[in-house]
Amino acid sequence: MDAIDVIRAKRDGHALSNEQIDWVIDAYTRGAVAEEQMSSLAMAILLNGMTRAEIGRWTAAMIASGERMDFSSLRRPTTDKHSTGGVGDKITLPLAPLVAACGAAVPQLSGRGLGHTGGTLDKLESIPGWRASLSNTEMLEVLDTAGAVICAAGSGLAPADRKLYALRDVTGTVESIPLIASSIMSKKIAEGTGALVLDVKVGSGAFMKTVEDARELAETMVAIGTDHGVKTVALLTAMDRPLGRAVGNAVEVAESVEVLAGGGPEDVVELTVRLAREMLDAAGITGKDPADALRDGSAMDHWRRMITAQGGDPDAPLPQAPETHTVTAPSTGVLSKLDAFGVGVAAWRLGAGRARKEDPVSAGAGVICHAKPGDQVTEGQPLLTLHADDPSRFDRALEALDGAIEIGPAPSNLLPLVIDRLS
Ligand code: URA
Repeated sequence: MDAIDVIRAKRDGHALSNEQIDWVIDAYTRGAVAEEQMSSLAMAILLNGMTRAEIGRWTAAMIASGERMDFSSLRRPTTDKHSTGGVGDKITLPLAPLVAACGAAVPQLSGRGLGHTGGTLDKLESIPGWRASLSNTEMLEVLDTAGAVICAAGSGLAPADRKLYALRDVTGTVESIPLIASSIMSKKIAEGTGALVLDVKVGSGAFMKTVEDARELAETMVAIGTDHGVKTVALLTAMDRPLGRAVGNAVEVAESVEVLAGGGPEDVVELTVRLAREMLDAAGITGKDPADALRDGSAMDHWRRMITAQGGDPDAPLPQAPETHTVTAPSTGVLSKLDAFGVGVAAWRLGAGRARKEDPVSAGAGVICHAKPGDQVTEGQPLLTLHADDPSRFDRALEALDGAIEIGPAPSNLLPLVIDRLS
């Protein structure tokens, strides 16, 4: 087989055969297909798409490029959640211990932020001592003691995706539904979870800007999971405004702890509880209400065990950025727009995110939103507080907020928090 034949086939709009897919993924992982050849193939896939059969085979080949984890030694059913990423999306932090408190095991392999969307591992690393990298044995130990573990995927899991994702990131080929779906699902299936709930975000702060695109991505991922024997459900949820009030790293940990203590912003609590119900249902666990586990302290208890088991101190003060800048309401009325993308870029420029994979992030940087779309505001009232380690970052963050805030009679076209459910 030859890489050029595979590229030409996709370039000319043909479906790739099983043999072509298996060969190209294996040869790319081994280094026998060059980066420029895979880059060209990824662009042909972005432009010409893939059939469901091709996507399924591509995913299977990426899973086969590495190891598969096995949690069959655990006495509890496994269930996991994946979000396609957004602004202020800290849901994994309260959700994993909450679902563990209700009787499931939650093996949550998470990622780092890139661009304007935050990463769960970056957020948790603001807790002094907490470690993201665990061996497979350590991961099982944390799961056994805390019922939930949130950690980085080991290098043995879907290595083809690891290489391909880094390549797509620098070749303008991230935004392809077949490539996104196979990338996410290859890691989740190799991780060995029995059930999976997908939170597919829609709106300016998400990969998928329209409900139609999000639905296509969700349907594709549900079909891949189901074909691999993983009970898979997807929710389409709003990402036209930030989720909750905090956007950043330590500030999002603090907000997650508020939720675990029975408080926190309404939208974060509602989505956490809804996703927990879906995860428990998909794992076949009945008779537990996650809202009770937030009220009775058992979710908080699992959080503390999970953080401690990964070397963190759940009682340590969280880092705070020394510099702040307040953005006030320009007029009196209803906050009709608080754009997720604008706020996400502002938090990124304040230092909460990174421009290149190897950049460090600031633990304390970020944005606190004092009002949400639909709230009545008065001229001069604080709308946002920007936090940074260095005041020179405020100007570029404020530029990102240009056009992101509108005061009007009422929000015109806010998406419902949960738009749809697919299974
Ligand atoms: N997240 C992934 O893991 N892969 C993608 O392609 C996009 C988001």
